[in-house]
Amino acid sequence: MTRKLFVTTALPYANGPFHIGHIMEYIQADIWVRLQRMLGHEVHFVCADDAHGAPIMIAAEKAGRTPQQFVAEVAAGRAQYLAGFHISFDHWHSTDAPENHELARSIYLGLRANGLIDRRTIEQFYDPDKGMFLPDRFIKGECPRCGAKDQYGDNCEVCGAVYQPTELKHPYSALSGATPVLRSSEHFFFRLSDPRCVAFLEQWTQDGRLQPEVANKVREWFQTGPDGRALLGDWDISRDAPYFGIEIPDAPGKYFYVWLDAPIGYLASLKAWFTQNGRDVDAYLADPAVEQIHFIGKDIVTFHTLFWPATLHFSGRKVPDRVWVHGHLTVSGEKMSKSRGTGISPLRYLELGMNAEWLRYYIAAKLNARVEDLDFNPEDFVARVNSDLVGKYVNIASRAAGFLAKRFDGRLSGDVGVEGRVLLDSLRAQRDAVRSLYEEREYGKALREVMLLADRVNEYVDRGKPWELAKQPGMDAALHDLCSVCIEAFRLLTIYLKPVLPALAAQVEAFLHIEPLAWADAARALGAHRIGAYRHLMQRVDAAMLDALFEPPAPAAADTPALPGGEALAEEIGMAEFARVDLRAARVVAAERVPGSTKLLRLTLDAGEGADAEGRPRLRNVFSGIAGAYAPEQLVGKLVVLVANLAPRQMKFGLSEGMVLTAGHADGKAHPGLYLLEPAPGALPGLRVR
Ligand code: 2FM
Ligand code: ZN
Repeated sequence: MTRKLFVTTALPYANGPFHIGHIMEYIQADIWVRLQRMLGHEVHFVCADDAHGAPIMIAAEKAGRTPQQFVAEVAAGRAQYLAGFHISFDHWHSTDAPENHELARSIYLGLRANGLIDRRTIEQFYDPDKGMFLPDRFIKGECPRCGAKDQYGDNCEVCGAVYQPTELKHPYSALSGATPVLRSSEHFFFRLSDPRCVAFLEQWTQDGRLQPEVANKVREWFQTGPDGRALLGDWDISRDAPYFGIEIPDAPGKYFYVWLDAPIGYLASLKAWFTQNGRDVDAYLADPAVEQIHFIGKDIVTFHTLFWPATLHFSGRKVPDRVWVHGHLTVSGEKMSKSRGTGISPLRYLELGMNAEWLRYYIAAKLNARVEDLDFNPEDFVARVNSDLVGKYVNIASRAAGFLAKRFDGRLSGDVGVEGRVLLDSLRAQRDAVRSLYEEREYGKALREVMLLADRVNEYVDRGKPWELAKQPGMDAALHDLCSVCIEAFRLLTIYLKPVLPALAAQVEAFLHIEPLAWADAARALGAHRIGAYRHLMQRVDAAMLDALFEPPAPAAADTPALPGGEALAEEIGMAEFARVDLRAARVVAAERVPGSTKLLRLTLDAGEGADAEGRPRLRNVFSGIAGAYAPEQLVGKLVVLVANLAPRQMKFGLSEGMVLTAGHADGKAHPGLYLLEPAPGALPGLRVR
């Protein structure tokens, strides 16, 4: 039976070019989609720019553009990446397109008609200079618990406290520096705490459609708090003007919060795609056979497994059948940061002439169906591509093609002998197993299986020794059969790899003079057939390319963010005031992660403070919020700059005896990147910085 599949990836914010994490998700989804197409299923694979929200509005303003212009410029840059990495979306749309405005309004009206929209007046911080309410991430101040300065409106990066922006001490607007004032305003809430919603979501999230670890995590929302009610609270879905978004019906000056209309963009994109093809999207979505599948990252699970299905269900629409969650991409074990140059710029990858299918293969080889982070490791990348992909698979064709062309005019022999038949049957026998592994998103296992098959083929060639047969008189038929088996085996392996390597498969199809390969072609044999001339199918990776890939990108590169300027200068101080801060060079003796904190590292520092009574060097314990930027292993042995006379501070995890200096933007979310200050080589622990 032909499946009807509606497949999406998360909609990227239209505030900048794709990063490698987006490309990874698209590759994961694209492989799955290509498999389904090869199986003859009907797939609609769509995406869109997530255009709305305060951050994009503010970024546009900074860039001197209207939000619409800003978003259009970002959107114009998308195609080169999608084409470059062979991502086969059927359609790319925008959440600011008319279809989305219309759908969002009608969905909202559906929720309202169901009695699930409440209006409530809430108090929020307002920036009197900018004339707007401030999103939490644009409010900063001192942590109400530990007093750390410059903390965000919702949580403290130093002590981990979670709070309301109104609890911050000395709050200020990260946009203007102004002191925000409290203002009340009417907001619209989606009453997710309504027993109907809770009952629906408990069922929807726990009925087996989610990965087990995701279902377990989501289940926490249904636990009851001290008041006996589920933790799942009502959801504030409105924002006040000025806001770049969709105006709420019957509520001038009120806009949908971006996360309400973003996933609706999935439907808007599908609708635009159907309209383009003269098809009726409502009829399609009304078909119970349609499977709606969303690929997403682990950071946006709540939106997709609670808010989104509830939004759909209670506006009388089809709900997602699957939400498939993947982990994040790390680079050599570190969270990526493109500003620091340890990340991989997808555009740079392409500009360096690196083959997109190397990356597709490598990512696929490391992906599974669980929510695990995936590490890009340069040495591993070179090894897998060169030894597996080129060494095992591509090699098979090159071993046989020359003899066939020179000796047999490119004709395959129809008969392949007993050993050849056993080999080919064993390859064909794996087609369901390989298909299921792809189907289950166990791509790593699928590729391991395929490489084991490639090993068998290479062993067969090694045993048959075509290079010797070619020299022996009277062995023509044996040589012909052996090379023909190789080509048929290569064709089968190409089918199994085609979801991952579509461009390579197209080259193979041209070389073999065959129609585009479908999965069912694995059950057939090519038989006596004339193939074309072999041209080398894939280069090996040159390790130097990876060095080039990891060089910090030039500041002017197209996908490098604008320099994070604009942070206001602190108040003027005199020399005497500066001299009160005692800064010292210190060596990192040990560094470790802090269990229970994603932000902090525990550093043990030698600041040249001599020894204690027992002769042990006096060391300092300092907690530093740099875990997002540095792995502990990177730090040991490094010199850092310590604020040595800072009053010790009792933190949740222990006493912090000072602070190490870093450079970074006050708004670390908008301008990520945190850089330790290092004294130049030669400096010794204890030297004062002045
Ligand atoms: O987290 C993000 O990048 C969001 N732009 C994802 C939106 S997915 C969907 F809901 F639109
Ligand atoms: Zn704190």
